[in-house]
Amino acid sequence: MNSRTRIGIGLVSVGWMGRLHSRAYTEVARHYPELGIDVDLVSAADPVESGREHATTALGYAEAVADYREVLADPRIDAVSICSPNFLHREVALAAAAAGKHFWIEKPMGRTVDEAADIARGAVEAGVFTSVGFNYRQAPAVAHARELVRSGRLGRITNVRVALLADYSSDPDGARTWRFERAQAGSGVLGDLLAHGADLAQYVVGRIAEVSGVTETFIAERPVPAAGAASHFSRGDASAERAPVENEDYAAALARFDNGAIGVLETSRIAVGPHAEYRLEVYGTAGSLRWDFQRLNELQLAEGPGGYRTVYAAPGMGEFSRFQPGAGTSMGFDDLKTIEAQLFLRSIAEQRQLAPSVADGWSAAAILDAAEATAVSRTWQAVPVVDGPTTFDA
Ligand SMILES: NC(=O)c1ccc[n+]([C@@H]2O[C@H](COP(=O)([O-])OP(=O)(O)OC[C@H]3O[C@@H](n4cnc5c(N)ncnc54)[C@H](O)[C@@H]3O)[C@@H](O)[C@H]2O)c1
Repeated sequence: MNSRTRIGIGLVSVGWMGRLHSRAYTEVARHYPELGIDVDLVSAADPVESGREHATTALGYAEAVADYREVLADPRIDAVSICSPNFLHREVALAAAAAGKHFWIEKPMGRTVDEAADIARGAVEAGVFTSVGFNYRQAPAVAHARELVRSGRLGRITNVRVALLADYSSDPDGARTWRFERAQAGSGVLGDLLAHGADLAQYVVGRIAEVSGVTETFIAERPVPAAGAASHFSRGDASAERAPVENEDYAAALARFDNGAIGVLETSRIAVGPHAEYRLEVYGTAGSLRWDFQRLNELQLAEGPGGYRTVYAAPGMGEFSRFQPGAGTSMGFDDLKTIEAQLFLRSIAEQRQLAPSVADGWSAAAILDAAEATAVSRTWQAVPVVDGPTTFDA
């Protein structure tokens, strides 16, 4: 019998992502049995009672507490998931690192690039392994796209379009949750969605070297929800008191990559029509490809002049064969998180950074910061190279 690795897990915040991380941890042993990793869901923290109850009754945590500091102080816990609203990311991540806990943190890593840099430095100093919630990287069709680009099959890459268009805030009566407050969220749709787009573009095509951005807030006020009552998709009470939206609904940026490609990045949380249309398009001198999260298992591929054909995610592309035996049978969003959980747990077990790292999170934050700054200055700005190790270019 091979030796097994036990990893004690703590969770900070039992919202949408906290629940998904927890399900993903328990799925790893089912999809990757040969790793010999056993997770032990030890304790989850959330100030809201219903979250704590869900953690113990549905997710399988042995206990749930109100204060996340109890989770970080627990000696049975080796690794924590940080799934709280953005304003807590830096505080919790630095405390986790100081307590010697490996952490898997959701994007955007911090509210600002300075917070992201603090988190990255704190983790490296403490010598802990990390993961950042850049789940779209893990789609097998995206892994295949990266291989096509990096092997040169598309020729020289000329231009890249990344568009993350969502309707989750398109209703002007949608609740003013923490996502619309600077102090709670930092930037708006830049951090919420374009963080993914920046990472996706760098993962598939290469490092973004400079950007020029534009931002706008189109829905200036929203109804304030009752405390603790609103999630990402909550409808507000139209008759409730309204408060200002403090960050952007829409952002776009022109970009230049280190390899000479040109990028157009665009994101909106108030688009009417697209639900979660997260698109990556890459154009090269010998071919092009397009991917959309809403059609997770498909890639549109053009090689030569014949136009696009649909290539379905299949065994041999990324981690597909861990989930399904043949092309055409779909993987889902939860599966991407299972792959992410596997990379995080393996990073800890094998003592090498395999998952998207805090340096990747910092690098994405630097792109968003430059886009936000240039939206004000109306200029171009270089995106600094962050201290490694980044994994998007590994
Ligand atoms: N990777 C992705 O695709 C993805 C998708 C959605 C959200 N996110 C990110 O995940 C994070 C959480 O988003 P969500 O949609 O799960 O939010 P959510 O609103 O569903 O949940 C947030 C949770 O945090 C809890 N919380 C509030 N204050 C707390 C405190 N002081 N201590 C501990 N917990 C506290 C709330 O009670 C709630 O349970 C955000 O950073 C967001 O950007 C990532």
